[in-house]
Amino acid sequence: MVRMKSTCTRLEPFGRTAAMIFALGMLNAGARAADLPQLEHKDGRYTLMVDGHPYFPLGAQVGNSSGWPEKLADLWPKVEAVHLNTLEVPVYWEQMEPREGVFDDTVVEDVLRQARAHHVRLVLLWFGTWKNGKMHYVPDWVKQDTGRFPRMKTRSGQPIDVLSANSEANLGADRKAFVHLMHKLKEIDGEQHTVIAVQVENESGALGSVRDFSQTAQKQFDGAVPQTLLRALGKKPGTWKQVFGDDADETFQAWSVATYINQIAAAGKQEMALPMYVNNWLKSPRGYPVLTVPGDDYPSGGPTSNMLAVWKAAAPAIDILAPDIYVPNTARYRDVMEQFKRPDNPLFIPETHGFGRFPGSQGNARNLFLAIGAGAIGFAPFGIDNFSVTDANGKTNYEQIGLAQNYELLAPMADELAALQFAGKVQTAVEEPGLAQVELSFDRWSAQVSFPPAYTESADTGGLSATAALHMGRVLVAQLGPDEFLVAGIDARVNFRLTPPAGEKQAQLVTVEQGTYTGANWQRTRLWNGDETDAGLNFKAPGSMVRVRLGTY
Ligand code: DGJ
Repeated sequence: MVRMKSTCTRLEPFGRTAAMIFALGMLNAGARAADLPQLEHKDGRYTLMVDGHPYFPLGAQVGNSSGWPEKLADLWPKVEAVHLNTLEVPVYWEQMEPREGVFDDTVVEDVLRQARAHHVRLVLLWFGTWKNGKMHYVPDWVKQDTGRFPRMKTRSGQPIDVLSANSEANLGADRKAFVHLMHKLKEIDGEQHTVIAVQVENESGALGSVRDFSQTAQKQFDGAVPQTLLRALGKKPGTWKQVFGDDADETFQAWSVATYINQIAAAGKQEMALPMYVNNWLKSPRGYPVLTVPGDDYPSGGPTSNMLAVWKAAAPAIDILAPDIYVPNTARYRDVMEQFKRPDNPLFIPETHGFGRFPGSQGNARNLFLAIGAGAIGFAPFGIDNFSVTDANGKTNYEQIGLAQNYELLAPMADELAALQFAGKVQTAVEEPGLAQVELSFDRWSAQVSFPPAYTESADTGGLSATAALHMGRVLVAQLGPDEFLVAGIDARVNFRLTPPAGEKQAQLVTVEQGTYTGANWQRTRLWNGDETDAGLNFKAPGSMVRVRLGTY
């Protein structure tokens, strides 16, 4: 199980290049020793800095009703079994402010205490005005006072189960509670940094109406589109309808939700400027590219792929617009990641399927490697409560074991991974149906990755290892130096060759060291040779990590 690390001297992993890259970030180390977790951006890449080092959250999210001390206490054996370093836990407005202006911090204090005792970092999820396009987590004094805290109205004037984003009273009440939370965090976590990021609201936007048609909202809708938005989108002035035509309703709703959340986040950052993000219920049902209706098929006004530019203009206090990726295949997974990875937006995956069942999706363990390859700076499957190594019939659940293998393999190198990724040194390959081989190019060297079942044999599955049978082979290759690589994989084989044209030269493996990291230090456990290397480097389940020195003759 990975432990939070204090500052450590980085030895060789990727040598001097890395040291220099870090040096830039570390120049201020003295001044920033007690600095808050923060995002850094360099050469088009992002990383999350925690205690002065790049940090990769190998995370999971707890179930919606598991952010309570007693429930959470039951989950730690699963956290340990999955080898997480980060847990995402909700904070409920209804619990924290049961009566207006009266706050109960006992739960959040206990959540932090438990996380520290288990050496796990936290991402806190603020379940306030919005949760899955509804308002179910607001306190009862908000739910019951519909005069003071107005609901959205549909086109026909019906109130719905969603607070209006066009109401100062709603905004003021949520903001006050969120500021209280951030103030509390500053008080109890200002030095320790157990909490590394905060999600502001959950899958915001509205289910039940494309926008708010209340009188107040309608008046704004009939008015001029704000200059900030026009400038950001390069549009000419006009009313919402004139500027956005058929998309006016959804765009107006997105602007309203994003400006509301921006004000909450900005006020919270005044207390404690942790990285803040919003998560997104994808625009299409399960991510399929089909016609969908905002407010019907997905919450209207959330940070969906079609509204990212609006959100960026409206919500500068939000650092990341993050997709919750529940899609049925690898191709769609890649599409979604591409939509959300932008020069102005780090790719962070705060929710994805894995622990729960998801019809039609298998081999979820490959998604972490897909995400790392796409430059994700953090990853968290939803619902660790459902993690179990056996299924309902008592049979071994290799899908779940695959998820745990991922983190067990990568947890020791999580900090190195973040650093290598930030330096642009990491590529990955994953097995997909019908895909026999993938080639990863690193200038002079290429890594040919294949997924040969015969090489993952085990007696009980007739030649296939149980996890290989799920076709979720996965490999990460990181360049440590001109002729040196770190390779971590499961159910896959890797052959290095000289990138053509290689001329007269032949490639050779000089040494292949299996090992692991302890902190920043590489610990060799043995050398691979013979059957382990002759036909390629064979990474069988449950996975291994090697450092390879290459040469020519
Ligand atoms: C997405 C939401 O953001 C989560 O809180 C949870 O409700 C999951 N869906 C359930 O699948």
